[in-house]
Order: sequence, then structure tokens, then C-alpha cells
Amino acid sequence: MSTDPAAITDVQVDGVPAGPAPAGVFVSFEGGDGVGKSTQVALLGHHLASLGREVVVTREPGGTPLGLELRRAILHGEDLDPRTEALLYAADRAHHVASLVRPALARGAVVLTDRYLDSSVAYQGTGRGLGADEVERLSLWAVQGLLPHVTVLLDLDPAVGLGRLTGDPDRLESAGDDFHRRTRQAFLARAAADPGRWLVLDASQPAEDVAAQVRARLAPLLVAAGAAASVGGAA
Ligand code: TYD
Repeated sequence: MSTDPAAITDVQVDGVPAGPAPAGVFVSFEGGDGVGKSTQVALLGHHLASLGREVVVTREPGGTPLGLELRRAILHGEDLDPRTEALLYAADRAHHVASLVRPALARGAVVLTDRYLDSSVAYQGTGRGLGADEVERLSLWAVQGLLPHVTVLLDLDPAVGLGRLTGDPDRLESAGDDFHRRTRQAFLARAAADPGRWLVLDASQPAEDVAAQVRARLAPLLVAAGAAASVGGAA
């Protein structure tokens, strides 16, 4: 494997066909509904863009035109059996990564995604009871093993998060208190098992405080990746 951080090389992920290693920086935001992920993605995106980085802000499901159709079907369409639901999220993710995320990373961009495969592991694997390991394998297969450099978990009591939402609840938001408590625990357990990738933050803090902690965690990573501009820390 080349030591040039800008080189595209093959990566190996246990038993999963692997795609090229990215040159850019890949960051995902995870957590329950209403925890403030989109606010944090936007704050970080503006900050990085103001420093001169190419930033691609995206989301799952729905980061591509096909993904928008899948998003509508998953969240607002007919009732789905859990396996169908898991496969539709995986299809959205496969297309999202192949058509948008990998090309952006290959250019050296910073990609910020509002949800990624850890949502499937928590919601479909644990929430729907399909099994975390199986759903993780499905997702890793879909994306040829591509994992974020950093995953920010915005942790919040689901009663508080769901209470912040406005409008009619979608299929997932309507899944019940127990479902949302289990997905929260699944995110926390997954984060605890891989502290090198995850940053867990208390999402009940003011948004600016959360944003400062995110910037501080990313600063060394962006410098190491050859960032053209330095990234502010806790300021
Ligand atoms: P999100 O876009 O965060 O919802 P909103 O725009 O309403 O804030 O995500 C939509 C829902 O999809 C959310 O309830 C979480 C769920 N989800 C899964 O169940 N599995 C997945 O793999 C992903 C990406 C999302």
C-alpha cells in the first residue's frame, strides 16, 4: 500500500470486497431523530468551506436522485417488512457511495453525511431485530467496506429528540418508544466498541458548543490528510 495520502489504493475489510481507499476525509453524523444532526452538518460544512476546503454535504437516505425516490418509498410509502426496509436503505447507500461519496473523496473533498451505515445497524439491526452483525455485513458489502474516518454520535434521550420534531411523523419516527430506546443503546454500544472512529457528544448542549467539539476532533485529521487550510479547534 502506498504511503502517499493522496493515492487511491485498495483497502481490506474482513471478508468484504474492498474498494479504493479515499484521499479525502469522510465524516458521518449519527443519532436518533431530532438530535440536531442536520444543524451540526451545516455548521461544520460552512466552517470548512470558509477555510477553503471542498465540502460535500449529503445525507442518507436520499443523497442522490435515485435516493430521493427510495427515501419517499421507505419513509412515506406502503408498510415494509424489515428485510425489505434494510435492503432499500442498503441500495440507497450503495448508489450514494458509488456515485457521490467515493468520487468526492477521490478528489480530496471532505464529505459530511447526515447518517450512514451505523443507522442501519442501529435501526434495522437492533431496532427492527434483524441482527446487528448481519445488517453490518450487508451495508459493508453495499459500500465495498468504506467506513468514515470519524463518526459523530449526537446522543439524546429519544423522548426529547422526538419531542423536537414538527410535522407528521414518518414510518421510522412512528416506530414507538421502545424501538427508539433500543436504537439509542445500539448507537452507544457501537461507539463504545470503536472509540477510534466515534466521537460521542451530549446533544442536549447548545449547538455551538457541540460544533466546537466536532471541530476540535477533526482538526488533526484534516491536517494529517494534507488539508490546504488549518481547522479551528475549540474556538
Ligand atoms: P433522517 O433523514 O435523519 O430523518 P429526518 O429528515 O426526518 O430528520 O432519517 C430518516 C429516517 O430513516 C430516520 O428515522 C432514521 C431512518 N434510517 C434507518 O432506519 N436506517 C438507515 O440506514 C438510515 C440511513 C436511516
